[in-house]
Amino acid sequence: MCGIVGYVGRQSAQDVVVAGLKRLEYRGYDSAGIAVLSDGGLAAAKKAGKLVNLEKLLVERPLPTGSAGIGHTRWATHGGPTDANAHPHHDNAGRVAVVHNGIIENFAALRSELIGRGHELVSETDTEVVAHLLAEAYSGSEDPAEAMRQVCGRLEGAFTLVAVFADAPDVVVGARRNSPLVVGVGDGEAFLASDVAAFIAHTRSAIELGQDQVVELRREGVLVTGFDGRPAEVLPYHVDWDASAAEKGGYPSFMLKEIAEQPKAVTDTLLGRIDPEGSLRLDEVRITRGELREVDKVVIVACGTAFHAGMIAKYAIEHWTRIPCETELASEFRYRDPILDQRTLVIAISQSGETMDTLMAVRHAREQGAKVLAICNTNGSTIPRESDAVLYTHAGPEIAVASTKAFLTQLVACYLVALYLGQVRGTKWGDEIRTVIRQLSEISGEVQRVLATMEPVRALARSLAGHDTVLFLGRHVGYPVALEGALKLKELAYMHAEGFAAGELKHGPIALIEDGLPVVVVVPSPRGRSVLHGKIVSNIQEIRARGALTVVIAEEGDEAVVPYADHLIRIPATPTLLQPLVATVPLQVFACELATARGNEVDQPRNLAKSVTVE
Ligand code: F6R
Repeated sequence: MCGIVGYVGRQSAQDVVVAGLKRLEYRGYDSAGIAVLSDGGLAAAKKAGKLVNLEKLLVERPLPTGSAGIGHTRWATHGGPTDANAHPHHDNAGRVAVVHNGIIENFAALRSELIGRGHELVSETDTEVVAHLLAEAYSGSEDPAEAMRQVCGRLEGAFTLVAVFADAPDVVVGARRNSPLVVGVGDGEAFLASDVAAFIAHTRSAIELGQDQVVELRREGVLVTGFDGRPAEVLPYHVDWDASAAEKGGYPSFMLKEIAEQPKAVTDTLLGRIDPEGSLRLDEVRITRGELREVDKVVIVACGTAFHAGMIAKYAIEHWTRIPCETELASEFRYRDPILDQRTLVIAISQSGETMDTLMAVRHAREQGAKVLAICNTNGSTIPRESDAVLYTHAGPEIAVASTKAFLTQLVACYLVALYLGQVRGTKWGDEIRTVIRQLSEISGEVQRVLATMEPVRALARSLAGHDTVLFLGRHVGYPVALEGALKLKELAYMHAEGFAAGELKHGPIALIEDGLPVVVVVPSPRGRSVLHGKIVSNIQEIRARGALTVVIAEEGDEAVVPYADHLIRIPATPTLLQPLVATVPLQVFACELATARGNEVDQPRNLAKSVTVE
């Protein structure tokens, strides 16, 4: 949540910062602002609404040219999305400007304290107190990094802060506790950002700032210290995706581009992990085979779409490994007294690697001795850094707020973990495991086939744009797929959408069925678990008899559903457990098209932000 950019170097700070903010707008789009250091002073502009409003303002009233600056794109927490609450915030003399991502929990006490000392605070934000505290600390030390360290010592909560001081030209300072901040090191220039996307057009050399660290950026280089002032060990890395990965590449939206990229994302996530003999090689998972053999319980923690991937993983893990597995919302798990020990494997799934609740769940699990394996899409982010091991998904940058390709790769990673656990432990499903590994290695072609047949799904979505409610039903792994279909529709189309386990219909939800109500049903394969298939065909008949407009997602060759389907969406035949990889795709396309037909902007749905770094 909130995107932050800082720059010092030869180029125009305004140009670099605004271009960086454009790449980070997915993180929040309630307001945007910028401050540049110029001619011994600070010049700033900020505006409520999307970044385009700030850009218009900068055309009308350009800032003086400066070579150091900071910028912010906001997802509002304290105080509504107004001009006054937009970042940067200043002290009363206008000598310090600061931008912030996170929540400062003790801001009310700090605010009263500052008012008591004669400061005038003009916004409703928690951030403004930091500008005032920084001004006070700087007047004592005249050292930007020292001022930042002193202030961080007084703050409670999660924060990334980036500041400039009018009296310290060509210096930008940043600080990090819990929220992300990455440094980009260029030739005679340096960058700070919430995400490397902001600066990959300029440099691929990055440093992930660690927990409780302060960084001072100058043209000549960067200096990282701990909050205690001691020099910190830095972890440089090379950003290996190219700048075009963060561009729309001719698609009308990032979401459509990311949906289309799914076959490649799936292939990339499998790459190098299956050996020529058809066994899995996951040596990168730094938990020994011995430890994996000892695991007697798996707990999966995640939020939102990643949680749905975790729900599907439970079916796979229990089936292929016979280890009991629970999947829990990270936001619930972290406040519980879960029963964990050294033999528990906790799997934390997160695209961003920064989701606050998932991070706290990881810490909660490790405190109790459990081993944590992160499944993550963002290299060097906090959750993998704080876990015992990581399996990266290789989806590439996911910019659209609604998760699509990351979800498919999370599923692939979960299957890999489940199959690997089965392989290492030598369960009785050895033959099935080998067959499924082969089928998994071929699945991206099936995802591609689904994508090639989506025109009728788009037409159906457009025809349903006037409805208020859509329900989704599924059984077994089709149940989390139904939940995911409903979540996509809620967040993109702002419609009432609910997913149900089809077996629960008669326990309540069937009362919602009325004439013409669209109900999407995910049908399991008629092969394999045919009991489930028969049950869901009955469910379709039941809702149709009560007037539902049935939209049936069923495998090619499944003729039993044909008489009861008002609309039939075909997906390729896959093993039951792998079906979510192909069944989810039409639901993503459906939600995206329906939202577009309702006039919504799919990349930046209202009230949402890409990475939820606050609770
Ligand atoms: C929905 C969506 C969210 C995320 C959730 C977790 O489309 O994207 O529900 O899945 O906020 O985010 P990560 O995976 O970054 O932890």
